[in-house]
Amino acid sequence: MIRAARKSDHEDMDALFRASVQALCADFYPPGVIEHWAGKPVPERILRGQTQGDEHFVLTRRGRLAAFGALNLQKELLEALFVAPEFAGHGVGRELLEFLLDLARSAGLTRIRVNSSMNAVGFYEANGFVEYGRGDFDLGGGVTLDSVFLARQLSGEARP
Ligand SMILES: CC(C)(COP(=O)(O)OP(=O)(O)OC[C@H]1O[C@@H](n2cnc3c(N)ncnc32)[C@H](O)[C@@H]1OP(=O)(O)O)[C@@H](O)C(=O)NCCC(=O)NCCS
Repeated sequence: MIRAARKSDHEDMDALFRASVQALCADFYPPGVIEHWAGKPVPERILRGQTQGDEHFVLTRRGRLAAFGALNLQKELLEALFVAPEFAGHGVGRELLEFLLDLARSAGLTRIRVNSSMNAVGFYEANGFVEYGRGDFDLGGGVTLDSVFLARQLSGEARP
C-alpha cells in the first residue's frame, strides 16, 4: 500500500533513511561520508523538506514501513527514494518510483530529474532514466556526496 506520509510516520522514515544509507550505500562511499550522511536521528528532516515543496509518500507491507519517497513538482525533481534494507531487491523501489512518476505525469510534468547517489545509478537506468551530468551533493559540514544527475521523459513514451 502506498499513501501520503503522516507526521506520525516521520520517526520511522528517519530511521529507515539512516538504515538504508548505512546498509545499501556503504560500498560506494568512504565510511566517514556514510557516517555523516546517515547522521543522528533527526525526524525533523522530513518537515524541513516539506517546507521546500517536497511531498512524501510511504510504501507499507503488512503494516510495516518498507520505503518512502519524495517528489518536488516545482523543481521537477525526485527528491528521495529509500528502501529499508530488509525489503531491498524485491521490487519495492520500482513500485514506489512508478507511483511517483504517475503523480508527476498527472501534474503535467513531461520530464523528471533525480540527483542519484552512486549506488542507485543502476536502479534509475534500469527504470528509464538517462545520465546528463555528474557533480557533488552538499551534505553540509564540508562533506559532499559524489552524485550522478539523471532524467527521464514522462510524455510521448511507451509505459515500461
Ligand atoms: C536504489 C533502491 C531505491 C532500489 O530499490 P529496490 O527496491 O532494491 O529495487 P527494485 O527491487 O525495485 O529493483 C528494480 C530494478 O532495478 C534493478 N536495480 C535495483 N537496484 C539496483 C542497483 N543498485 N544497480 C543496478 N540495478 C539495480 C533491479 O535489478 C530491478 O531490475 P529488473 O526488474 O530488471 O531485475 C534501494 O536500493 C535503496 O533504497 N538504496 C539506498 C538509498 C538510495 O540510494 N536511494 C536513492 C538515492 S538518490
